[in-house]
Amino acid sequence: MTTAAITAVGHYAPDHVVPNSYFESYLDTTDAWIVTRTGIRERRFLDEGATSDLATEAAKRALAMRGIGPEEIDCIIVATVTPDMFFPSTAALVQHKLGAKNAWGFDLSGACSGFIFALTTGTQFITAGTHKKVLVIGADKMTSIMDMNDRNTAILFGDGGAAVLLEPSEEEGYGVIDAINFLDGSGMEALHMKAGGSARPTTAETVEQKMHYITQDGKAVFKVAVVGMADVSLDIMKRNNLTSEDIAYLVPHQANMRIIQSTAQRMGLDMEQVMVNIDRYGNTTAATIPSCLAEYYSDGRLTRGDNLVLASFGAGYTWGGIYVRWSI
Ligand code: UT7
Repeated sequence: MTTAAITAVGHYAPDHVVPNSYFESYLDTTDAWIVTRTGIRERRFLDEGATSDLATEAAKRALAMRGIGPEEIDCIIVATVTPDMFFPSTAALVQHKLGAKNAWGFDLSGACSGFIFALTTGTQFITAGTHKKVLVIGADKMTSIMDMNDRNTAILFGDGGAAVLLEPSEEEGYGVIDAINFLDGSGMEALHMKAGGSARPTTAETVEQKMHYITQDGKAVFKVAVVGMADVSLDIMKRNNLTSEDIAYLVPHQANMRIIQSTAQRMGLDMEQVMVNIDRYGNTTAATIPSCLAEYYSDGRLTRGDNLVLASFGAGYTWGGIYVRWSI
């Protein structure tokens, strides 16, 4: 049976490092509060350019790692909540910037679960036998929708992009083995952008009332995220007969270190079995999970045969878990 294997990874973090002390300089917050409540020490800001630039750089790195040209790509899926524009899709802009002249593609809106949903989707194209090389990218320029004067949200997010290449594999038991995804739109109020869409088009008033920024009830999201991410991870373990000893890494969405720790604890994992980079990048939304994969692989900490549980929770609400047996 053909599976979809991850055959290359690429991560792009902009150069501009923004430490917690930056927010201390003008907001009523402290480095100690941010570190203890979130685990974040610094994040990256993209000063010039857009989400398609983050995505394109990440994709270039994945292609270079695989040693192939952009014309070999069949399909580009970009998970993002910060598209360059409503239309055309960010995937179209990435296709053009990469020179992926044989690819079609589309954007996928799954917020912090965007990469999990996109990896699930890309896998279907490979296992159906219709596509040979699918780029699955998670990229977000979160600074484009952040209210820098709101201490509840400004300290949480960063900009970044990361990509994986999916290809067919005939090796039994390797690649993307299983996925479980959920959507519950009753959670909309807790995390959303108030205006700019068809429900409330942009007006001078929506701009004045700061309705184009992230609105989050952090405590409400925290409560459901901590349950949802652990539940779906345990479901994936159970369905695939995985014990905590079988798992090389939990690869969690990086929104809050306390959510990550709690998920690991419920799965019976030590923190050495958990990929973490929230301290250096904050929450880059769709980019968090593939950025962890790319970093741990390039550090030599991720090896062929490793069992990985990828897990996320985000706006929608959206949540999901994927079992991957690493094949490179
Ligand atoms: O990735 C998408 C999904 N999103 C998430 O998973 C986010 C989930 N939520 C969280 O990570 C956490 O709820 C936050 C990190 C956003 C907030 O942490 P918390 O422990 O839930 O804090 P809180 O919102 O309950 O606020 C506690 C206190 C409040 O003050 P009072 O009302 O107790 O006086 C806040 O006003 O901390 C205050 N506060 C801050 N203080 C210093 C909120 N933000 C800050 C800040 N610095 N930056």
